Amino acid sequence: MSFGQMPIANNFLNESDKKNEYFFEMAVGFCNNCKTFQLLENPEPEMMFNDTYAFFSGTSEYMKRHFKDFSEDLKQKYLQEIQDPFIVEIGCNDGIMINNFKELGFRHVGIEPSGNVADVAISRGINVLKSFFNAEITSSIEKDFGKADLITSANVICHIPDLNSVAENVSHLLSQNGVFVFEEPYLGAVIEKTSYDQIYDEHIYVFSAIGLRNSFSRHGLKLINLEPQLTHGGSMRYHFALEDSDHPISKNVEDIVNLELAQGLDKPETYEQFKENCEKSKSDLVKLLTKLKEQGKKVCGYAATSKSTTVLNYCDIDQELIEFISDTTPIKQGKLSPGKYIPIKKYEEFSAFDPDYAVLFAWNHEKEILAKEKDFSEKGGKWIKFVPTVHVNG
Ligand code: TYD
Repeated sequence: MSFGQMPIANNFLNESDKKNEYFFEMAVGFCNNCKTFQLLENPEPEMMFNDTYAFFSGTSEYMKRHFKDFSEDLKQKYLQEIQDPFIVEIGCNDGIMINNFKELGFRHVGIEPSGNVADVAISRGINVLKSFFNAEITSSIEKDFGKADLITSANVICHIPDLNSVAENVSHLLSQNGVFVFEEPYLGAVIEKTSYDQIYDEHIYVFSAIGLRNSFSRHGLKLINLEPQLTHGGSMRYHFALEDSDHPISKNVEDIVNLELAQGLDKPETYEQFKENCEKSKSDLVKLLTKLKEQGKKVCGYAATSKSTTVLNYCDIDQELIEFISDTTPIKQGKLSPGKYIPIKKYEEFSAFDPDYAVLFAWNHEKEILAKEKDFSEKGGKWIKFVPTVHVNG
């Protein structure tokens, strides 16, 4: 399935950059061999993860709590018995997760290729190596710190094109009973909710347990546990360990794999249906926004997420239909949205504009946002949502 020409999702740009904007054809495919769902073509990682990366993990209070709980859980499950544990995080961003291990006084290293977000982590006293996760950095970490008791990551593994190299490097770096625990947006949720906006340049894969187990077992890693998460509209936390480690396999693995089989995540027909659902979602959203425009309603967007780049470009929605998008991230404000050039404005402009309708692009943060924006709803403002189907809520 092709979503058409797509820009870099987080490349919020100035007027003068428009003429040089990079586009690629965003098409997805399902591998009937390893059962992995993935982009067919992806831009070079350096185009996305560099010194002007616009995504700072710490923008959501909910996510801060989530990562605190995540690290606490990992400590309880895997680090209690270990003397002087060593933890590696792949893609530590501004340190939102690994900071919790630093606070506990644990030896740690965060690996982060995007210089600007890495600097935020460094300023918090976190040990950061500015690098992609590859064989060189793995060897140098092993040389300087030894093997890792815990390798963790959140919303990063799906960003790395060479999945085999990830598994290979992880299995080299793990100590005999070390664990690799990471979470990612979940394919089961994307299919169930038609949340096609989880697909963009950075998300080269949308993982399922079946697909990951197939891919990682080739490199001596066994899937020992699975824990569904509510974050990012439905994520999965995967626990892997070395094949010959002492870790038993939790019953959750079989239970969730069975659910995936029942959902048809291993079958091409499921993705044919997904394609049809995406096309309907697109046509419903465009029809709704066009109708509101004809009625003279004031419509803006809420949160200039990476996901919104897919929605706006796939549905061909520009400033004609959505006047601007408000967002709390300073680096995005004053810029234009990738590909469709809708202005991104400060959060304060949202209430100043007094919109009739707001498209909730950060639908995964709905609870936090709706609580914060009670005034908007009380004044009669309506939210436009497109997951799981296009609908309007007061
Ligand atoms: P997220 O869903 O994490 O984005 P992505 O699709 O890129 O993974 O949402 C983060 C973005 O949403 C970020 O640009 C900040 C913005 N945002 C707001 O503007 N207001 C809010 O209340 C929240 C929670 C996020």
